[in-house]
Amino acid sequence: MASNTIQFLFSDKIYKIKNPDPNKTILNYIRNDLKMTGTKEGCAEGGCGACTIVLGELDKGKIIYKSINACIGFLPTLNGKQLILIEDLIHKNKPHVVQEAMVKFHGSQCGFCTPGFTMSLFSMHKNKKLINKEIVEEALSGNLCRCTGYRPIIDAAKSLNNKKDQDHFKKKENKTIRLLRKIKDIDIEINYQGKKYFAPKTITNLKKILKTNPNAKILSGGTDLSLEVTKFRKDINTIVSLNSINKLNFIKKSNTLLEIGATTSLFDFQNLIKKYFVDFYDVLKRYGSLQIRNVGTIAGNIATASPIGDALPLLLSLDAKIVIQGINQKKIYSLNKFFISYRKTKLKKGEFIYSIKIPLNKENIFKAYKISKRFDDDISSVCGSFNFLIKKNKITKAAIAYGGMSEIPKRASIIEKNLVNSEFSENTFNRAVSLINKDFSPLDDMRASRNYRLAIAKNLLLKAFYEIKYKKNIRLHT
Ligand SMILES: Cc1cc2nc3c(=O)[nH]c(=O)nc-3n(C[C@H](O)[C@H](O)[C@H](O)COP(=O)(O)OP(=O)(O)OC[C@H]3O[C@@H](n4cnc5c(N)ncnc54)[C@H](O)[C@@H]3O)c2cc1C
Ligand code: FES
Ligand code: FES
Repeated sequence: MASNTIQFLFSDKIYKIKNPDPNKTILNYIRNDLKMTGTKEGCAEGGCGACTIVLGELDKGKIIYKSINACIGFLPTLNGKQLILIEDLIHKNKPHVVQEAMVKFHGSQCGFCTPGFTMSLFSMHKNKKLINKEIVEEALSGNLCRCTGYRPIIDAAKSLNNKKDQDHFKKKENKTIRLLRKIKDIDIEINYQGKKYFAPKTITNLKKILKTNPNAKILSGGTDLSLEVTKFRKDINTIVSLNSINKLNFIKKSNTLLEIGATTSLFDFQNLIKKYFVDFYDVLKRYGSLQIRNVGTIAGNIATASPIGDALPLLLSLDAKIVIQGINQKKIYSLNKFFISYRKTKLKKGEFIYSIKIPLNKENIFKAYKISKRFDDDISSVCGSFNFLIKKNKITKAAIAYGGMSEIPKRASIIEKNLVNSEFSENTFNRAVSLINKDFSPLDDMRASRNYRLAIAKNLLLKAFYEIKYKKNIRLHT
């Protein structure tokens, strides 16, 4: 039996909302209904971090803290979680250790961005005892400040290194866990003035819902879907969230294959892939921000078929396959055959992405680069990905894919053919890059001109060649 009531923990109480509006954002709920106005709205599209809040979630009996953008999260997705706002940090009139650090290091001027920064730092402090530059930069990658400048905020962050986590959240951790466990873990079915929201717990129930609601929009992290509401001002009539289905959140590893369940977050995926393809990890670290990667999924990225979806060229050159679950059967597609045209895939109504399979071949050499105007939280102008097998100085396999070069992320099949069976040499690569216009005819747009894209695509392939030849990474950014 499904429930029409979502439940979440806030300020030590379980809140219940019967049939909430599934299109209402968490931010609007916080500010307009809870009247908690510490959390700000800047961009309403996940890009500035002013609305950063933290969600506490139970994971193997422990609470993990995730910073998210409240402006692009739908209210029903709070179900089963602990909502933590900037107002919760102060305790018995004493600022939280993170707030004290922001004051001590002068991390705020006009103050508009400050609640968001503080919440990002709060989440970092709760999750990590030992803090280094990489951790701080990742924690702050989704927060913009227009007046203070980042140095004082980074100093405040660094001062939290090795600071004992002895705040009031820690002290009442057992009580919080007990309360979170009290929330019934059952299917949710909401009907708000004809707008429906489903969050089934099982694949069987998901299939039933998709059968009776063929036009439903599937929701994973919502970092793309929510913009239909917040930016395009549309209503989404029926939403089916995959996030309560434990069977879709998995990682399977063998010597020859990785299989990643559809709802695995980009953050979990980034930490998995580091061991296998470090360049994939480097690109993912620059994918949106930590707030985006905490909720966004690799399956969501694939389903958008965006020409500038960052994971897509990388998965294409790795010969990834995707497992599609329909109402009656499962199908497997090579990702190379999955994208049809601009933002169109082979997914049919009633089908969903179940998992992604990435073959592992230890002999292959994998390289990938993202070129964007900003280092963090920016969409690619061009993303290039290269997977080679070289034997006795001969190229026996070349799988090359680019994002930002055509209406879909695409393999460079003419260049690939030209490289295979050739000597692994500068001459070969100089010859191959001259064919880039045969594989791609990119557009001019606000991110980059056609000629810039073509030049970058060539140079990235040459960069891959030189890095492999000289076994050295040529850094793009310092
Ligand atoms: C601030 C910001 C920064 C961003 N930065 C980047 C970036 O650097 N690089 C980049 O590539 N993208 C970026 N994005 C875009 C977005 O984060 C990605 O496309 C993301 O991977 C979408 O995943 P999601 O889980 O949030 O998908 P959702 O928003 O939940 O869904 C996206 C689409 O996929 C469908 N869908 C989701 N899951 C499934 C499934 N399992 N089966 C079938 N259909 C499904 C949905 O119905 C919807 O149409 C950014 C977005 C924002 C808001
Ligand atoms: S308001 Fe800018 S990220 Fe939410
Ligand atoms: S303190 Fe003004 S925007 Fe950051």
